[in-house]
Amino acid sequence: MSAVIRPAALIDVPAMARLEEISFPGDRLSARSLRRLVREGRATCLVAELDGCVVGDAIALPRRGSRSLRLYSVAVDPAVRKAGIGTALLAESERWAALSGHDEIRLEVREDNAAAIRRYLAGGYVTTGRRPAFYDDGAAAIVMKKRLAGIPA
Ligand SMILES: CC(C)(COP(=O)(O)OP(=O)(O)OC[C@H]1O[C@@H](n2cnc3c(N)ncnc32)[C@H](O)[C@@H]1OP(=O)(O)O)[C@@H](O)C(=O)NCCC(=O)NCCS
Repeated sequence: MSAVIRPAALIDVPAMARLEEISFPGDRLSARSLRRLVREGRATCLVAELDGCVVGDAIALPRRGSRSLRLYSVAVDPAVRKAGIGTALLAESERWAALSGHDEIRLEVREDNAAAIRRYLAGGYVTTGRRPAFYDDGAAAIVMKKRLAGIPA
């Protein structure tokens, strides 16, 4: 299964909002927020497209004055998971982060999200902390980071 990873456009926002709906129990990005992120162009918003359909996305947010990019959301349609699309979105987000002058990606992930934590560990992320009651429903977050040195631009 070979998905194309490309920058998101405004036309992708409904599909991205649907991915948020089906992938996260809470703390979702609304269609309105997604539209703003894509339109403003400061965030790295990527989508994975398969046979003309958006089946995954990754959103990473810069912070003014920081060389650390925050990976805010990665989601893949459950129908096409475990085919490498999440890993491809992660790799492309890292490439864009390096290209835009960042030297680190950091993220928070729900402590009970074993599949995602496994992916991040396999991709070279290390755990750097834990935030209790980070999510709306009281779940804790694990904080992870990856240095980007050596990632080819
Ligand atoms: C986390 C998530 C993005 C991973 O997406 P994905 O497309 O399934 O990721 P991949 O296919 O690259 O990797 C998933 C697994 O499939 C395996 N895999 C990848 N390609 C494969 C292939 N061709 N054949 C068999 N297995 C494969 C990977 O090794 C990995 O195994 P693991 O679970 O033991 O680590 C997805 O599960 C998801 O959207 N979850 C809900 C949202 C979420 O939790 N997001 C992350 C927090 S922000």
